[in-house]
Amino acid sequence: MKRILSILLAAVMLLSVALMATGCTPTPAGSGGGSGKLIGVAMPTKSLQRWNQDGANMKNLLEKAGYTVDLQYAADSVEMQVSQIENMITKGAEILVIASIDGESLGGVLEQAAKENIKVIAYDRLIKGTPHVDYYATFDNYKVGVLQGQYIIDTLKLAEGEKGPFTMEVFGGSPDDNNAYYFNGGAMDTLRPYIDSGVLVIKSGQTDMEQIAIPGWKSEGAQARMDNLLTAYYADENVDIVLSPNDSLAQGIVASLKAAGYGSSSKPYPILTGQDCDITNVKQLIAGEQSMSVFKDTRTLAEKVVGMVEAIMKGTEPDINDTETYDNGVKVVPSYLCDPVFADVNNYKELLIDSGYYTEDQLK
Ligand code: GAL
Repeated sequence: MKRILSILLAAVMLLSVALMATGCTPTPAGSGGGSGKLIGVAMPTKSLQRWNQDGANMKNLLEKAGYTVDLQYAADSVEMQVSQIENMITKGAEILVIASIDGESLGGVLEQAAKENIKVIAYDRLIKGTPHVDYYATFDNYKVGVLQGQYIIDTLKLAEGEKGPFTMEVFGGSPDDNNAYYFNGGAMDTLRPYIDSGVLVIKSGQTDMEQIAIPGWKSEGAQARMDNLLTAYYADENVDIVLSPNDSLAQGIVASLKAAGYGSSSKPYPILTGQDCDITNVKQLIAGEQSMSVFKDTRTLAEKVVGMVEAIMKGTEPDINDTETYDNGVKVVPSYLCDPVFADVNNYKELLIDSGYYTEDQLK
């Protein structure tokens, strides 16, 4: 009998070694504080380039730190995002990292998270109307707008006394995205002196978010609005500047401008701003179809979030550099703001290729 037992024991040991070697058994999470604990990462959509990078960066870094990651994309459906977050709570997530689709839509599900003592990090977009947001990791959203406005001022040498007048149209981001109001505020605060003095002329007169906002940040929505503006206000003169808050809108705006004949000597492309340095848009920068894009290195933001997760799991206070700006309607959410920078045809190589963000081939 003893002989049989020792043979069986040897066989089991051999089998488990073989399984480990083939990777069939769930290998324990990597090194770091994670020890396999579950982190839920809820991203809004795969249809805009940046969120794919955000999700991949965070999953990679969190797994390296030893966490198990449940990464979900909600195809810009609020209902889908809410049920994905509910599912993360059910699966025992310790922390939720959420880039909300509609910042006002998560109060109910975050009530459930709070009951389970799950900490919540708002990612890139502030979550509003609930006390159950513990931290906010983002880029300085107001500065994104300032960089766009300042680029226009510098390019036209307005501070040096250039009087124009220059025609300009303004686009806003999705009305359910808190960031959109900061982007617009930074840009318009920067440009306002030149609008008030008549150097910059918004022929449509459209500057309110209700007039300029593009739902879902959709390129086709921006293209349709640009078409309408060109038809209604620019039949007999060119538009000189288009303030676009991000690259997905800038893609639609370029498509509209091209269809209206811009890009020729009589109709040069307007100064066109953007944000995210999406691959399509960096190609537009190189082609002279877009003027600049604000670069927000998603690797930096992901690192910041992993740092927050590690601190929370250790019961220590995460690294915070802003405790005043982001009032979510219930409380001021302690935040870390990463620094955005502008990219244009003159510095994109150093900023995007030398840093390893993109390869040369990706931009061909
Ligand atoms: C914003 C984000 C920007 C912009 C937009 C569309 O909230 O901060 O990077 O691209 O969403 O994703």
